[in-house]
Amino acid sequence: MTDTQQTADQPLLSARNLSVRFGGVLAVNNVSFDVKQGEVFTLIGPNGAGKTTLFNLISRIYTPTSGEIDYMRVKLTDQPPHKIAALGIARTFQNIELFEHATVLHNLLIGRHTHRQTGLWSEIFFTGKTRAAELQAREKAEQVIDLLDLQHHRDSFVAGLPYGVRKVVELARALCTEPRLLLLDEPSSGLNVEETDDMAFWIQDIKNELGITVLMVEHDMTLVSKVSDRVLAMNQGEVLAMGTPREVQNDPGVIEAYLGSIDDVSSLRRPYQAPDLRGGAQ
Ligand SMILES: Nc1ncnc2c1ncn2[C@@H]1O[C@H](COP(=O)(O)OP(=O)(O)OP(=O)(O)O)[C@@H](O)[C@H]1O
Ligand SMILES: [Mg+2]
Repeated sequence: MTDTQQTADQPLLSARNLSVRFGGVLAVNNVSFDVKQGEVFTLIGPNGAGKTTLFNLISRIYTPTSGEIDYMRVKLTDQPPHKIAALGIARTFQNIELFEHATVLHNLLIGRHTHRQTGLWSEIFFTGKTRAAELQAREKAEQVIDLLDLQHHRDSFVAGLPYGVRKVVELARALCTEPRLLLLDEPSSGLNVEETDDMAFWIQDIKNELGITVLMVEHDMTLVSKVSDRVLAMNQGEVLAMGTPREVQNDPGVIEAYLGSIDDVSSLRRPYQAPDLRGGAQ
């Protein structure tokens, strides 16, 4: 077995006792969780809970103060950031990160760059190998454009696109790298109800049709309940609860953590009958 092969019952990603401190702030405090192959695993929690910091640890933008992350038998915490995409991990950002003055298609082709196996000389002389890689990249980009219904925007400059479309382009860019693990940081933020519904369908398609494992951060509990197999709730860097969406939403510690914000509480309640939470009977 090579380093990157693994058996079906092994988690795809395993975070063990992760902590990260920024000066006086313990942003992530002794967090452990496994992400299973093929599931949608969602991190929820109030603002500042440490959700994006966990993504940044997995992407190797940050190094943990203590703890480790294993991914497909590779110790991720030993890998340099530029190796992450080649290991099959792609992400979208809480604030969209795209090349604004390039077209949608160009953004997708840039996203594809990690798959290039061609060397400098073959790129300079545009050899057969380079041409084949170019064609393969194009083909993948077109497939993703079709999957996410972006045909109408494929030659538009990103800068001129509405926010909701940019959000889908960012998802498309990540998919073009053909990831095994996709990290989505707040995929529905800034989207209207209809766009959020579309996003839910796409996340389900990504899981069911492309077989990609999804680790998501999300505030919209309707979307979370619709697409997540398991949910981990955090508060102030710590794990509050882990389980199915329903189990986590009914957890007294989770309800309490959200009580500071009326909006968050109502969004937490939306998918279920109000008595579930008010009576605390379940
Ligand atoms: N680079 C950094 N330097 C200093 N503090 C940081 C840094 N990154 C994150 N933090 C702090 O760590 C804590 C967790 O932040 P994080 O961005 O992970 O929260 P979050 O759960 O993603 O919140 P939100 O829902 O608002 O996106 C916050 O107190 C934040 O200010
Ligand atoms: Mg965040």
